[in-house]
Amino acid sequence: MKLFLLLVSYFVSVTNAAQSTNTTTTITTSLTSCLVSANVHNFSTATSSSYNHLLNFSIRNLRFVDPAVARPVAVVLPGTKHQLRSAVVCCINLLLSIRLRSGGHSYEGLSYTADGTNPFVVVDLMNLNRVRVNLADSTAWVESGTTLGEVYYAVADESGGSLAFPAGSCSTVGSGGHIAGGGFGFLSRKYGLAADNVLDAVLIDSAGRVLDRSTMGEDVFWAIRGGGGGSWGAIYAWKLRLVPVPDRVTTCQLSRSMPSRPVAELVHKWQHVSPALPDELYISVAISATVNVTNSRFDVQFLGPISRAVPILARRFPELGLNESDCAEMSWVESAVRFAGLESKSDLTDRTTPSGKIYFKSKSDYVRVPVPLAGLVGAFNWLAKEPKSYIILDPYGGTMDRIPSHDVPFPHRRGNLYGIQYSVAWTKEEEEDGVGYEHIAWLREFYEYMARYVSKEPTRAAYVNYVDLDLGVVDWSGPDRDRAGAARVWGEKYFLGNYDRLVRAKTAIDPGNVFRHQQSIPPLAS
Ligand SMILES: Cc1cc2nc3c(=O)[nH]c(=O)nc-3n(C[C@H](O)[C@H](O)[C@H](O)COP(=O)(O)OP(=O)(O)OC[C@H]3O[C@@H](n4cnc5c(N)ncnc54)[C@H](O)[C@@H]3O)c2cc1C
Ligand SMILES: *[C@@H]1O[C@H](CO)[C@@H](O)[C@H](O)[C@H]1NC(C)=O
Ligand SMILES: *[C@@H]1O[C@H](CO)[C@@H](O)[C@H](O)[C@H]1NC(C)=O
Ligand SMILES: *[C@@H]1O[C@H](CO)[C@@H](O)[C@H](O)[C@H]1NC(C)=O
Ligand SMILES: *[C@@H]1O[C@H](CO)[C@@H](O)[C@H](O)[C@H]1NC(C)=O
Ligand SMILES: *[C@@H]1O[C@H](CO)[C@@H](O)[C@H](O)[C@H]1NC(C)=O
Repeated sequence: MKLFLLLVSYFVSVTNAAQSTNTTTTITTSLTSCLVSANVHNFSTATSSSYNHLLNFSIRNLRFVDPAVARPVAVVLPGTKHQLRSAVVCCINLLLSIRLRSGGHSYEGLSYTADGTNPFVVVDLMNLNRVRVNLADSTAWVESGTTLGEVYYAVADESGGSLAFPAGSCSTVGSGGHIAGGGFGFLSRKYGLAADNVLDAVLIDSAGRVLDRSTMGEDVFWAIRGGGGGSWGAIYAWKLRLVPVPDRVTTCQLSRSMPSRPVAELVHKWQHVSPALPDELYISVAISATVNVTNSRFDVQFLGPISRAVPILARRFPELGLNESDCAEMSWVESAVRFAGLESKSDLTDRTTPSGKIYFKSKSDYVRVPVPLAGLVGAFNWLAKEPKSYIILDPYGGTMDRIPSHDVPFPHRRGNLYGIQYSVAWTKEEEEDGVGYEHIAWLREFYEYMARYVSKEPTRAAYVNYVDLDLGVVDWSGPDRDRAGAARVWGEKYFLGNYDRLVRAKTAIDPGNVFRHQQSIPPLAS
């Protein structure tokens, strides 16, 4: 310990001096010796041959592999709770910023980039991916580096298909970041968010303590279930409530490509119908457009047989023209495979599938009053101007309506008809202007256009798992002149009336603000 303190004080003076290569070398040497003496052996520093591969491995948004983006001193891959704690403690003692990475799907790369003012370390949790299912009480302990696909696979496998977990559709999303930010998916109208189904958790805090629900306190246990990743400490594992699903579920996928007006009529009706359907029935819609054609794809999941699904939709949404031949019966886990865009069940546990990495930018909104037909036509005309763009509309209602807005930090409950995700995505070949500046500028204008149609009382709303730095960032440099007040601008978009309780929880668990990023919750200045 004495050695550490010596290193730390040496190091602080060097850090202040300059960003010389010597500083980096010193940092790397100190971190290496700290990790090795704590028995953490799987890590990779900037000079090691595995560094680029390990850093790249979980980067989903290629906007953040630009050479201008600051890179970490090291990527550390703890394999046990003890090693995770050691990695966190080494970083804290050496005054290194920490970026926790579970699945690496952060839209803004917050799990593997930093603002460049302080050297940082990526603590990558991919080797913490064990799942322990307890059939006796339908729960599971899941290490936080486990992907959703790995969770779905293990739960279905061990329960013989009778249990599932309500969370997102993309199999490579990590449970660390996803559950920390809410976690919405095909089962959410029936069972709520992933975060609504967390029973306990193990958190390593900025003092190096290993806490569970009883020792972290109810405010902190509340905050970690939807208050966003990277603010509270390192989640080592979640205890999840598993949910029952029938042996056979129905999935339907159908596409309707037509001029903007008839698609707008279909979506206009969908807005009224989908949030009011039985909880067992979920229909989302994805839309893209070119000048003459608007493409819509409806994804349906029904927790029951085709013979019950089709008549409900024929009665409630005849305009869709759903035919039995659009649908198939399968086990719930097979439907998870399908909605993740995978081929087979074993793909669920493959972190490299689907493999396509893209450049993208997304934004989100909530809708409480149906958008008028003309507004939808206008939106589709916007989409037609940017061939790389699409929107996804996720239906709320059902259980999402019945969970009080303050149960967990995610507040978008009763009265929300659906959520909108706006995205623009492009590939290397199409990348002409460095960072996709024109694509992003287009997205921001479209978002302005939509302002008049979406939820805006008391403020325009957003979903923290679709993290969007356009909404504002915290400046951590310089003295704290009411950062918690300044962060309210975006904090209330994500959390509405829950924001102040999040600030209180942050002040209690991490008053020194060790766990932070450009949009983490600030503690109150002491
Ligand atoms: C292709 C794709 C599909 C998606 N589909 C859905 C969907 O269907 N439903 C939905 O709700 N969302 C969806 N999302 C959004 C997704 O939920 C968020 O991006 C989520 O935060 C990703 O979690 P992660 O662990 O993969 O990301 P990471 O980038 O690893 O982490 C995200 C944030 O959480 C922090 N964090 C990660 N692990 C921990 C930990 N153990 N302890 C504390 N903090 C941690 C990170 O530091 C970072 O700030 C999707 C995203 C993508 C890219
Ligand atoms: C870095 O270290 C080398 C050798 O240890 C030394 O010669 C050099 O002057 C140092 N550079 C700086 C900027 O401190
Ligand atoms: C470290 O973890 C990575 C990711 O699982 C793995 O590929 C690599 O082989 C491990 N390295 C060592 C030295 O154990
Ligand atoms: C990491 O990704 C960047 C950008 O795609 C690429 O330039 C680099 O070669 C990659 N490195 C490895 C080792 O894959
Ligand atoms: C769109 O339709 C018009 C009129 O039918 C036609 O002239 C034009 O070529 C079409 N554009 C595209 C991109 O298909
Ligand atoms: C469904 O499709 C089949 C075959 O394409 C067709 O024979 C049948 O009439 C359709 N049913 C309805 C209700 O449209």
